[in-house]
Amino acid sequence: MSFDYINALQKKPTTRTPIWVMRQAGRYLPEYRATRKQAGDFMSLCKNKELACEVTMQPIDRFDLDAAILFSDILTIPDAMGLGLYFSEGEGPKFTSPIQSLADIEKIPTDVTNELTYVFDAVATIKKALNNRVPLIGFSGSPWTLATYMIEGGSSKTFANTKRMLFNEPQALHLLLDKLADSVIGYLNQQVLSGADSLMLFDTWGGVLSKQNYLDFSLDYMAKIVKSIKALHPTVPITLFSKNGGKHLTDIADTGCDGVGIDWTVELDDVQAQVGDKVAIQGNLDPAVMYATPEIIEKEVKKVLSKFKGNTGHIFNLGHGITPDVDPENMKVLVDCVHKFSAR
Ligand code: CP3
Repeated sequence: MSFDYINALQKKPTTRTPIWVMRQAGRYLPEYRATRKQAGDFMSLCKNKELACEVTMQPIDRFDLDAAILFSDILTIPDAMGLGLYFSEGEGPKFTSPIQSLADIEKIPTDVTNELTYVFDAVATIKKALNNRVPLIGFSGSPWTLATYMIEGGSSKTFANTKRMLFNEPQALHLLLDKLADSVIGYLNQQVLSGADSLMLFDTWGGVLSKQNYLDFSLDYMAKIVKSIKALHPTVPITLFSKNGGKHLTDIADTGCDGVGIDWTVELDDVQAQVGDKVAIQGNLDPAVMYATPEIIEKEVKKVLSKFKGNTGHIFNLGHGITPDVDPENMKVLVDCVHKFSAR
């Protein structure tokens, strides 16, 4: 099997620039909304392997995408640790028992793979349904990003509680991050054993930290995960994505990862000049371009493609997830344009 998505990550020749899109299975698709309604709520959808498989396949059936991504969430690990995850309509994720103290951190379990078998069952089910059409991406949240949700009890604008712990009780936060890193390693290992062909770490909130704090509280733990997974599965490509991480790209590329995800606040040619010899680059169309006309989308796709020099090492993506109010027809325009204008 030879896939442009895997080949691009490994800097082997590609027939065209591969594309997948963060949140490609999601609310912008009417068929997703129908399956989600059938499941009742979001976590029930994640916990049902047949339905999780169904929604993973929906964008693959509709568009000429080069990779599928496991349908799940990054908050499965904190949920398995006993924090009580729920999604309240319009408010995003919440925890009934957020982390408030060192004692809470000491109590949480590290080996949670037994609580996450529904994820590995979904991976195996999806792998079978894909039947080698395209590779399957497994994923996890980064320890730092998971810690922010666990300490804030949900989404946050200021990360006040997490940063208070970072400055007042750094050792407590390091203990939590250590436990999370070990859990993530076990989680990703099982995803690979169940059929994931490639892995991605979502560090959605790495960009809110100062340089040294980013290195100490986010990147160090991602580097540990990369090292451990590489020792177990040397050929499985790993992509790291720190949203707003433009200042840290050379540090990220030094972890031994295969791909670096970038958002639209950096220029692809600058990034390639910095890290293009070491790693493949994933990105970086502004997700808001998806609200524009097909003609504008085509123009913006050409702009991104033209910034990357060479025939491999670029995986096209948006700089962050596709938003729920995008017209699915524009997703087709995007995918087809990327392929058409990058054919070798
Ligand atoms: O990309 C994919 O298609 C794979 C599935 C996927 C989801 N979440 C599905 C989802 C992935 C990879 C994630 C990762 C995730 N989850 C992240 C990191 C990625 C990023 O955006 O930076 C984060 C921070 C989360 C936590 C999370 N899950 C939030 C904040 C929300 C609420 C979002 C909202 O707009 O309400 C979710 C729910 C979620 N995860 C949805 C989907 C499709 C929407 C659920 C629904 O209402 O149907």
